[in-house]
Amino acid sequence: MTAVDKKPAAKFGTVFCKQMGLANLKGGTWGEFVVQPTQPIPLHPAAHVLHYSSSIFEGLKAYRWADGGVRIFRLERHLERMRQSAESMCLPFPGIDMVRDAIIKVVRAVHDEIPHLPESLYIRPCLIGTAPDIGAAALPSSDACLFVLVSPVGDYFAGGLRPLRLLVADDIMRTTTQMGTVKTGGNYAAALRLTLQARKEHAVDQVLFCPGGDVQETGAANFMLFDDKRVLTKALDPSFLHGVTRDSLLILARDMGYAVEERMFTVDELLERASSTEAALTGTAAVLSPVGELVFHGKTYQVGSGEVGPNALKLRKALTDIQGGLAEDTHGWVSKI
Ligand SMILES: Cc1ncc(COP(=O)(O)O)c(C=O)c1O
Repeated sequence: MTAVDKKPAAKFGTVFCKQMGLANLKGGTWGEFVVQPTQPIPLHPAAHVLHYSSSIFEGLKAYRWADGGVRIFRLERHLERMRQSAESMCLPFPGIDMVRDAIIKVVRAVHDEIPHLPESLYIRPCLIGTAPDIGAAALPSSDACLFVLVSPVGDYFAGGLRPLRLLVADDIMRTTTQMGTVKTGGNYAAALRLTLQARKEHAVDQVLFCPGGDVQETGAANFMLFDDKRVLTKALDPSFLHGVTRDSLLILARDMGYAVEERMFTVDELLERASSTEAALTGTAAVLSPVGELVFHGKTYQVGSGEVGPNALKLRKALTDIQGGLAEDTHGWVSKI
């Protein structure tokens, strides 16, 4: 294909493979996980999820390596987080083994649709409460549906690798403290209006939630600062999502000789350091997306040179090389399927 007839990349998450997979829990028993065409799923209008938001999900990626094989990145870590999310939302979890098998079954079924690097296959396993019971506002859903959607993806942020502009918001929270670590739709719904408003009023890409001055994360990614010597990010606590990418990058940064600091830091410290640091969002979808500008109380602060910095490129490459099979996987993060 020449550059002329190359189709523009579809928006992240809007194109799905021809097949998906699904299993239902009914009367206390999980049915078989079946691969089927990607199509609407039947849901009773009284389904628990539609009324009381009993839903959780994960987001992970599979990569087609040059050897033709397909590898999933940090499958076990994502499975464990999904189990924890299910527990927090009182959803009946079918067990790590069943969800692992389900994911592998679907990825194998869509093998021919998995794009070549640097693109990848985004895997979205979901678990929803399906009991038709609008009286169950304070009861868990007895029935559930596990489904796995798959989508070939490229860049998450339109425009590829470019410095992002963030609104630093110190007066609002992304979600509640007890739900911070849970990957559930309600958290995204809670952040949506604030993010739309920030985009409109400040022309930013995302909001960096810093309630009471505590620098936490954005709507769909973690946040970190780094320079030639050190990496700084918020230490794990219940207020934000414990990103698998965050964890991977911190391990790689230590391997590469950076001093890694995991601690709380404030908006004051962030703005003080802005001109002499680099910053980035990290996540399965965002990978490592550099930040070029911060907007706080109406004033814009440039981060480092305002461009994509050398450490962002170095850290991003260390991660994507392992994901794509271009560097040795010394931590055992990739699963061949
Ligand atoms: C709110 C939020 N924070 C952080 C992340 C990054 O997590 P991970 O690196 O596991 O994708 C995500 C994306 O999943 C997210 O939605």
